[in-house]
Amino acid sequence: MTTAKEEIESLRTELEKHNYNYYVLSQPTISDFEFDQKLKSLQQKESAHPEYYDPNSPTQRVGNDISKEFNQVQHKYPMLSLGNTYSESEVTDFYERVSKLLNEDFEIVAELKFDGTSISLTYENGHLILAATRGDGEKGDDITNNARTIRSIPLNLHGQYPELFEIRGEVLMPWKEFERLNKERERQGDTLFANPRNAASGTIKLLNPAEVSHRKLDSYLYFLFGDKLPGKTHLENLEYARQWGFKISEHIKLCKSVSDIFDFIRYWDKERKNLPVATDGIVLKVNSLKQQEKLGYTAKTPRWAIAYKFQAERECTKLKEVTFQVGRTGAITPVANLEPVQLAGTIVKRASLYNADNIDTFDFHIGDMVYVEKGGEIIPKVVGVDKNSRTNIGPKVSFLTQCPVCGTKLIRIPGESAWYCPNIIGCPPQIKGKIEYFVSRKAMNINIGEETIELLYNNGLLKNSADLYDLKKEDLMRLDRWGEKSTQNLLDSIDASKKMPFENVLNAISIRNVGVVMAKKLAKNLKNIDCIKNATIEQLISIPDVGDIIARSIVDFFSVTDNITLIDRLKVAGLQFELSDSYIASDKLMGKTIIISGVFERHSRDELKTLIEKNGGVNVTSISSKTDFVLAGANMGPAKREKAEKLNISIISESDFEKMIS
Ligand code: IVH
Repeated sequence: MTTAKEEIESLRTELEKHNYNYYVLSQPTISDFEFDQKLKSLQQKESAHPEYYDPNSPTQRVGNDISKEFNQVQHKYPMLSLGNTYSESEVTDFYERVSKLLNEDFEIVAELKFDGTSISLTYENGHLILAATRGDGEKGDDITNNARTIRSIPLNLHGQYPELFEIRGEVLMPWKEFERLNKERERQGDTLFANPRNAASGTIKLLNPAEVSHRKLDSYLYFLFGDKLPGKTHLENLEYARQWGFKISEHIKLCKSVSDIFDFIRYWDKERKNLPVATDGIVLKVNSLKQQEKLGYTAKTPRWAIAYKFQAERECTKLKEVTFQVGRTGAITPVANLEPVQLAGTIVKRASLYNADNIDTFDFHIGDMVYVEKGGEIIPKVVGVDKNSRTNIGPKVSFLTQCPVCGTKLIRIPGESAWYCPNIIGCPPQIKGKIEYFVSRKAMNINIGEETIELLYNNGLLKNSADLYDLKKEDLMRLDRWGEKSTQNLLDSIDASKKMPFENVLNAISIRNVGVVMAKKLAKNLKNIDCIKNATIEQLISIPDVGDIIARSIVDFFSVTDNITLIDRLKVAGLQFELSDSYIASDKLMGKTIIISGVFERHSRDELKTLIEKNGGVNVTSISSKTDFVLAGANMGPAKREKAEKLNISIISESDFEKMIS
């Protein structure tokens, strides 16, 4: 008869094999349903037998909700970066430099440069024992629990592996998952990730492994460190690593000449568009480990390797039409409507033309072939025009003089490049845009979608944000498909928004150039709406980070009677127009630097952070001799505790903290 222990072990081995087949080889041999059944069975057996707990069990890949901050770890081998080159001649220079220094035959391994976030994995006796981020190259964060949720990272190895070694690689968010995540974030009113690199590095440092598990990260490993590596060359070691279960790119080429290297570069400069993950160049490494050692390192980079960076992806496509969007503050943005084109992982149909000056400089005509690029931002940009390909020249693109929606004459604000529609109370996209912003999560957090706003606007029930607070049950019930429950939900949510703090209200009212961060600064410094309203330009610019343009926007906002009327109505509705007493609760923690670690009974970590700030303290994440105390809950990391004790920093409990600020 098999024992529970044997059953658990056999299920673990079997499930890891299926994980490997699916995520590393992309060749599943069982259905998702069967996999889930087996995983469930393992979960049940493990919870019946907690004595057989294993952090590297396949059940750990789903993560857990325990929020635990990261401990810092020292890298055994520093995580260096590579020298960058941008031209073929610099690649030739590298090749010649290596040739001269070695003065013997050598081979170069050419690989893709994956554009994610680097990771270092340590394995002991075939088990993953540590995963760390790059950090400053010397020290990184211990993100082992998050790394365990990445299905292509093996938790236990197969075959004959060294007793102890480190493997470096890149954690990536595949294009498909990146789009899914951004769509989800858009729905929830969260800021979007500009590119998969930011999404991957943001995800791997989330404090909630269950959420990391939900976002399907992938990995490619590309370098090994260890005293007893089996191969004599880099390529041999990668082949071994592949056999142990790591995901190693299949697009690696052994080059014997510069022209072999150029073939690889030219091929992948085009072909990379078809890869499921982002790449931003090619990495070239001397193959022999002995020769690598001979070449050694400069202070920051190895002499035996170099990166060649691709030019930002750029495509040429036809300019079909230019439309003009009116933003919530009245700013007019010119948008190019393009013949759809595949660019850096997504299909681009629209791109920004920045502003009026840009349109004049490029002298665009409808029908032109234009160049589109994706920079660091989410929205692609038109960066040039191919004038040589013009045959039948179309009409010249010119900026508008009147608002495309309400027809009001546009104005330009001194010092700003944008044109504005000044009709703030009568221009529909400005009205709807302002209401949409007003209700968004980081403003008043009212549970109402764009379609409902549109519906209420079209029915004359919503002409500005203050009208939300006058909505009546019977008005709403009269609308198509509005039942008792949805009506009550909306009214409750509007009511709850009256408790939103002053800085949210200040953000919600759409003062040009004042967003979440600036609203917080203004609230903290000037305390209430009347002080902000009456502040002079000089007083405003004396606030840190407030410059001329922001100060001018604030003064302009309060010089408009309609804005004052709106604020008066919101005041009557009961919104918060001053910093609440609890915001500046006390100065009991003034000047104190505090670390939060572990899980707490009565407060979330965010609440504790707010309490620290409200009482004048500063919440920091890494412990040093300057730290005043550690606020510790359950499961405080042992390394952190040890460090605090070593530095003689007092460790206080949740109730000690409550007493301190009471
Ligand atoms: S080798 C000492 N290979 O590029 C070896 N790096 O600036 C160092 N990267 O930090 C790394 N793909 O995050 C190597 N195939 C590849 C790579 C790669 C992406 C990243 C890595 C590194 C950066 C170098």
